[in-house]
Amino acid sequence: MNIRFKTRLPWPLSFSFARAIQNPAMEIWAGDVSNTAAAQAALLKRGMGNQAAREGLYSREWMMDAATVSHNEAVRPVTASLQHQAKVLKRKKYVFGNWKMNTNEAKAKSLAAAIVQGMPLDQSMQVAVFPPFPYLSVVRESLCASGIALGAQNLYPASEGAFTGEVSPGMLLDVGCQYVLLGHSERRQLLTETDAFINQKVRQALAAGLSVVLCIGESLQQRETQQTQQVLDAQLIAGLAGVNSADMQGVIIAYEPLWAIGKQGQQASPKQVQQEQHLIRQRISQMFGQASAESLVVLYGGSVNPDNAAGIFNTLGLDGVLIGADSLNAEQFLAIIQAGVNALVV
Ligand code: PGA
Repeated sequence: MNIRFKTRLPWPLSFSFARAIQNPAMEIWAGDVSNTAAAQAALLKRGMGNQAAREGLYSREWMMDAATVSHNEAVRPVTASLQHQAKVLKRKKYVFGNWKMNTNEAKAKSLAAAIVQGMPLDQSMQVAVFPPFPYLSVVRESLCASGIALGAQNLYPASEGAFTGEVSPGMLLDVGCQYVLLGHSERRQLLTETDAFINQKVRQALAAGLSVVLCIGESLQQRETQQTQQVLDAQLIAGLAGVNSADMQGVIIAYEPLWAIGKQGQQASPKQVQQEQHLIRQRISQMFGQASAESLVVLYGGSVNPDNAAGIFNTLGLDGVLIGADSLNAEQFLAIIQAGVNALVV
C-alpha cells in the first residue's frame, strides 16, 4: 500500500508490531539458547522488512528465508484469506457521461455506437450515458446488450398530470433508463432549483425504482471562505431528507465543485477529492449508518479528461467519474474508461 499510495496518504501507514514481527524469531528460538543468534537475526530481518514496507520499499528480498519455512507455512492460509478479502472488497469503477444539451439524433446514435464498439470487456466497469430526453430511445437501441446503462438528466417529481414540458420517473423507466441525474449545479444555478425541490425528485425517483446520481458541490467563493464542508453537508441533509437506509443502495453521490466544471474549470486535486469524499461518507454515516457510508458510490465530476483520469481513479475512496465535455467524444470517453480499467488492481 505504501508503494502505491504513500505520496497521497494524509497519514503514515504503519504496522501493529505484534505477532507479525515476533513470530518468526520466537519459532526459531523455541526456548533453546543455542538458537538465540539465529532468532535475533530473524527478528532484525523482519524489523528491517517492516521498515522497508513503511517507506514503500518492500520487495521479495525481505521475505523470510528457508530457516523460517515453518513460519511461512503458518502464514500461508492468512495470506490466502487476505487475497480472498481483497477480491471481495474490489469495488466497481463508474464512468458516467452527461451529454447535457448537446448532440442531435444522428450524433447521439453514432456516439453511442462508437462507445459500444470501443468498450473494453471488463465486468468491473459500470458505464452509463445521459443523453438529452429526445434521444433516449435511439441511444437505448444503440446500447442494446452492451452492458452500458442509460440515464436521464432530470425528471419531474410526479407520476403524471398537468405538468407541461416535464417528464416523469415512469416515463424514464419506460424508455430504458436506469439512472437519473439530480441536483446538477447547472440546474441549481440556471433554474434556481432548491434543495427541497431536488429532494422531492430524489424520493420520487427512488420510489419508482430509478437509481439517483445526486450532484453536490461548492462554489469557488464558498471554498475560499472555508464553507465547503457546511455546503456539502447542507446539500446532503436536505437532498436526502426522508430517504431510508435501504433506499440508499439506489443513491450515488457525485461531488462536483462548481469551480471545476466546464472547459474553463480548474481540476480539483486528488487530495481535495479524497478529503471531500471522506466528508461525504462521514455525513452519510451519521445519517444512515456505517454500512451505507461504506457501500456508497461516490463520483467526482469537473474537467475530467484522459490526461487526469488515472490520477482521479487512483484517489483513495473514490468510485469513479462523472464527465461532461469529454463524454461527447467517443475516443476521449473510451480513454477515460480505459484509465478506470487500469486502476482496477487497486
Ligand atoms: P465537465 O462537466 O466534465 O465538462 O467539467 C462535468 C459535469 O457537469 O457533470
